[in-house]
Amino acid sequence: MHSNEKSKASGLESYPTYRGLPPLAGLCSMQDAVDRVWSVEESTERLKRLHYVVRRLYETFTARITAEPIYELKTAFSHHAYLCSEQITSIRKRVSEMREPPLGLERIPHQGLERLMDEVIAAPTTELLVLGLYEIVVPAVRAACSKLAIDAHPLADAPTVRLARLIDFDFTAIDDFGTQAVACLVNTAQRQESQAWRDMLSDCLQAAGRLDGTQPSDAAVPAPIYSSQPYKYDGMPKRDERFIDPFNAGVNPEAFLYDEDFAPRDKTLMMSYKRLREIDVPEMMASILNEIQDKPWEFHMEMCRQLWDEARHAMMGEVGFASLGIDWSKIPINFTWSRNLNTQLTAQERHGVLFFIEQGLMPKTGKRFEWEVGVASGSPLSALFQDFDWADEVLHAQIGRRWYVPQFKSLKESLEYGDECWSKVVSHWGAYREQGLTKHRNWWPDVYQEACLRWGVQPDPLALAFHETYETKRADLKALKA
Ligand SMILES: [Fe+2]
Ligand SMILES: [Fe+2]
Repeated sequence: MHSNEKSKASGLESYPTYRGLPPLAGLCSMQDAVDRVWSVEESTERLKRLHYVVRRLYETFTARITAEPIYELKTAFSHHAYLCSEQITSIRKRVSEMREPPLGLERIPHQGLERLMDEVIAAPTTELLVLGLYEIVVPAVRAACSKLAIDAHPLADAPTVRLARLIDFDFTAIDDFGTQAVACLVNTAQRQESQAWRDMLSDCLQAAGRLDGTQPSDAAVPAPIYSSQPYKYDGMPKRDERFIDPFNAGVNPEAFLYDEDFAPRDKTLMMSYKRLREIDVPEMMASILNEIQDKPWEFHMEMCRQLWDEARHAMMGEVGFASLGIDWSKIPINFTWSRNLNTQLTAQERHGVLFFIEQGLMPKTGKRFEWEVGVASGSPLSALFQDFDWADEVLHAQIGRRWYVPQFKSLKESLEYGDECWSKVVSHWGAYREQGLTKHRNWWPDVYQEACLRWGVQPDPLALAFHETYETKRADLKALKA
């Protein structure tokens, strides 16, 4: 019997509820609830496929932050990695609710999906990467979520329906950015040249019977194009052409910030610089997430949140300069911290440096102090950003205490280790100049004078004359060994 006849027969079309209220908590019609065919097995299979692809997307977004030169992509990849990590956590939780121990979440669901994700992470150019990510994989995730939200039993499997909609909600943001990124970055010739590769990616999905496996397929998994050699993470940070003189350490913003002789308003400029410079933290944290493979998923989830926070902090600095009409590309945004950490230290050592810098600073040089400077400066924007920067830092302290400190006998020992590791990598100031990598030009007076013009004030002669560098002190003002 056709379902309509069945419902007519059972009178479900006019199923009575109290004063015509929606039945079944508004999830679906009674007819729908009676007719829909679905199972725990089908639901978990689809969720596991989604989990695999979204996890590989998370890995791809993080892996490609460091060596991607374009700043707007670094920050967007940080955001998209974070959105993926949140949804991965939700999928893992839902699968664990469905009689599935052991969860089988690490199993590769289909070779076609594996080939697809191997190819995208190995994309040799930015243009191919954004095409693969945003034109092939992200729409496939959204299609699988839409179908899952329609196919899953709306009553019996309501938590999965909700989850599928939430994933699609986050992926709408990823998709919107990605569509615009492709339009901005990929020209017609590049699109044409990439045709064979994009077809190959589509063939991978076809071989897998679509991302969710709902389309029966006996097509073969295509041969690799860029992934015949396993992808190798590139830990060398790269920046686009707006980042001039990146070895420049000719201005020590901390020395200015913690000097009581200078005005809070002037210090907000140094805080904007410090925030924008934080784009080096995602560049570095991406290396930890890529190289430390023996931690449970929760480590990735929390560290990825922190990575995204640091990208947001960089953008807050960018907004700070934009609010004054200052072109930040005239300021050397140093990248030697992520560069040195990624190339000279192990992932464990880098984690130590990160924790030490975030937690080992004296209270007077901490995040509360920066917020107080923001408030005292009279700039509501600076106060707002430092307010949230401080809140984020408290969260990062908790993350560090969960995932870094327990590897040591005590908090003190964990801090000492981070301090030592940091000292190992910061003493190349003179060498950079000798090698001609930078002149350590003092960029401060120009930027300060420009800001004073916007503020409509005369520069403070003492602040204008500030010229302390990183030659003998590091960012916590600790003297460097000669
Ligand atoms: Fe930060
Ligand atoms: Fe932080």
